[in-house]
Amino acid sequence: MNKKIIITGAAGFIGFHTAVSYLKKGYLVLGIDNLNDSYDLYLKSERIKKLKKFDRFSFKKIDISNFKLLSNVFNSFCKQGLPDAVINLAAKTGVRKSTSEPYSYYVSNVIGCLNIVKLVNKFNINKLIHASTSSVYGNSKKKSFSVESETSKPVSNYAASKKSSEILLHAFHELYKMNIIILRFFTVYGPYGRPDMSPFIFIESNLRKKNINLFGTGNQKRDFTYIDDIVTGISKSVKLKGFNILNLGNNNPVRINKLLKNIETLSKIKNKIKKSQSLKEDVDYTSANINKTKKLISWEPITNFNEGITRTFNWHIDNREWLKKIKI
Ligand SMILES: NC(=O)c1ccc[n+]([C@@H]2O[C@H](COP(=O)([O-])OP(=O)(O)OC[C@H]3O[C@@H](n4cnc5c(N)ncnc54)[C@H](O)[C@@H]3O)[C@@H](O)[C@H]2O)c1
Repeated sequence: MNKKIIITGAAGFIGFHTAVSYLKKGYLVLGIDNLNDSYDLYLKSERIKKLKKFDRFSFKKIDISNFKLLSNVFNSFCKQGLPDAVINLAAKTGVRKSTSEPYSYYVSNVIGCLNIVKLVNKFNINKLIHASTSSVYGNSKKKSFSVESETSKPVSNYAASKKSSEILLHAFHELYKMNIIILRFFTVYGPYGRPDMSPFIFIESNLRKKNINLFGTGNQKRDFTYIDDIVTGISKSVKLKGFNILNLGNNNPVRINKLLKNIETLSKIKNKIKKSQSLKEDVDYTSANINKTKKLISWEPITNFNEGITRTFNWHIDNREWLKKIKI
């Protein structure tokens, strides 16, 4: 019998790539997503179209904050054998919008997570892997953020909702001895990326010869992490037991100005940059300390920034026809 896995947020950037990797390993994958409109839905439909080419993939368009519907879906998927794990990647994403619409962030990221962990417990599923974020480190002044660093001072509702989900998962582990692995991702980029994040926006704006809205000086640094490394980290983390929090980050932060320069070099088109003031939800710097991740799951990123951004850029070139229609 095929091994099984449940992936929430399967129409999203990381969920899509994670689902592809499990499908290629022969798993039966149940993908769940509410197909929210936090960015252009055409991209989500392209991802789902690709996933549906695998006959071992099934998809349910439901909201994880709806316990009853979620419970029915778990029930029918778990009937003939339990999945190895639930990988909870569904979340309301994007730091900036979480200031103007906080409610939807807490509903998806806290209530949604609560529903997932309740069902993982109810159906006796062995593992829950949950996506958290480098945003929980707030405006940390540390050179690199270890999982023991301060995380109780978030500077956005997105970060606060993710930190809340981490805390509630800890309580479930203590109460029911569940195996729960929390992964804090650092600025993930790559093919099929997010049109609300800088690599996608900057590449597309450059190729469309449109203005690039740059918040701040461009000297901010991000620990950009390539999607394939994230997917490897997710699948390696499934072997862990107990309660663990791990960073998945490149451990080599890069200035936003370097990202812009690389894009110009690759496209041979000059960026049209329009600077505006940095936003209060944005942090200056992120950098992952991955010592614990190396030790527990022998994970290290293998894609350096120049290589990852070149691959991402080439994907934008190879998919020009439909990508130029995506709203940025
Ligand atoms: N991409 C990054 O750089 C990054 C960094 C840190 C953490 N993360 C986390 O990783 C996970 C995946 O992120 P992503 O970049 O793929 O984002 P994404 O927005 O592309 O994917 C998230 C998906 O979840 C779905 N979703 C949202 N709320 C839902 C709900 N209530 N019910 C069902 N589906 C819902 C959305 O429709 C979307 O397709 C998220 O939890 C995110 O917070 C991502």
